[in-house]
Amino acid sequence: MKTVFKVAGLLVLALLLLGGGIYSWASASANRTLARTLDSHSVDFPVPFPLQEEEIGELGLTPEEAEALALERAMERGRHLLESRYPCAECHGGDYGGGVMVDAFPIGTLMGPNLTSGEGGVVADYTVADWDRIVRHGIRPDGRPAVMPSEDFLLMSDQELSDIIAFFRTVPAVDREVPPVTLGPLGRFLVARGEIVLSADHLEDHFAAHPVLPPPAEVTVEFGRHLAGVCIGCHAPDLAGGRIAGGDPNWAPAANLTPHEDGLAGWSYDDFARVMLEEERPDGSRTREPMTFVTPFARNMTEVEMEALWLYLQSLPPRPTG
Ligand code: HEC
Ligand code: HEC
Repeated sequence: MKTVFKVAGLLVLALLLLGGGIYSWASASANRTLARTLDSHSVDFPVPFPLQEEEIGELGLTPEEAEALALERAMERGRHLLESRYPCAECHGGDYGGGVMVDAFPIGTLMGPNLTSGEGGVVADYTVADWDRIVRHGIRPDGRPAVMPSEDFLLMSDQELSDIIAFFRTVPAVDREVPPVTLGPLGRFLVARGEIVLSADHLEDHFAAHPVLPPPAEVTVEFGRHLAGVCIGCHAPDLAGGRIAGGDPNWAPAANLTPHEDGLAGWSYDDFARVMLEEERPDGSRTREPMTFVTPFARNMTEVEMEALWLYLQSLPPRPTG
């Protein structure tokens, strides 16, 4: 009997040591990954984007009027982008005063910081270059990689980011302190194992120029490809879907959006629009999380945007899922 206890005791001890060893390794490795500083370019562009000289002439505007109209348009475009495409509010809160991305032990507490000018806000001293780094590169102002997923924002043009900055500069101040990101043991393990790939590491070249303007808002493949930039974080860069890397394990795998028989082959535009707006597939089944998080944004898309997306998806080569 005694030997049995001894063996069991030794086994427990071995397991504890092994667990402790794995934890120390994961912790040290995750810390190394998160504490690196990354180099990137330092861009600058106007906020808001000015009107074209021709238009100022045609409308006969004074410089002050031209500036006011440029700001008004930038804010309108910024609001549309935040309501229909870029889900900053999902993690930074509906009032942008801070919100929750993940708050689940043992993964960790990943809160979206306060983006207003109120107490606890982090963007008061942000330059245009800082905005570019965090949004389009996943790099914080101090050069360290952020845990914020920026993959979906890589195709954003200067003008679109400028419109979003113009919007945030005037959003009502919210006083809210948001705790910094802390990773739990599982979060550290996933980062250490490379299961959670930081956005900054997705991007190979942090010095490549960004487009200045988005493609014209018309029903073209080019505009559709631009819009689909926000679908690739879940549906994969080739849009053939599969398991969502780094996502909640309970989430459904992302659907194949190419015209393959595993994907959207045989779908009409109306089928596509119904699933985007009503969460219902042609066979009557309903889409699940996290696609349902996209619906409120899709409902604010213009018809031109929805049609351009469809045209682009139809132009893709058919690929099997995953
Ligand atoms: C899926 C959740 C998520 C989405 C969507 C998201 N963010 Fe974040 N964001 C975060 C998290 C989490 C952090 C904290 C990152 C860190 O400290 O590593 C963050 C950090 C930031 C910061 C502050 C970085 C700092 O510490 O100075 C800014 C600015 C920011 N996000 C802007 C945006 C904008 C603009 C958008 C929309 C275009 C956006 N975020 C979309 C989760 C998100
Ligand atoms: C947050 C992750 C996420 C984002 C972002 C996302 N999707 Fe999805 N999408 C999913 C998942 C997961 C499914 C599968 C849902 C299910 O099986 O119930 C899905 C399903 C779909 C479907 C239904 C197809 C089918 O065969 O069931 C369409 C169409 C679709 N997505 C289009 C888009 C488009 C277009 C975008 C970008 C504008 C987008 N999705 C952005 C996760 C996402």
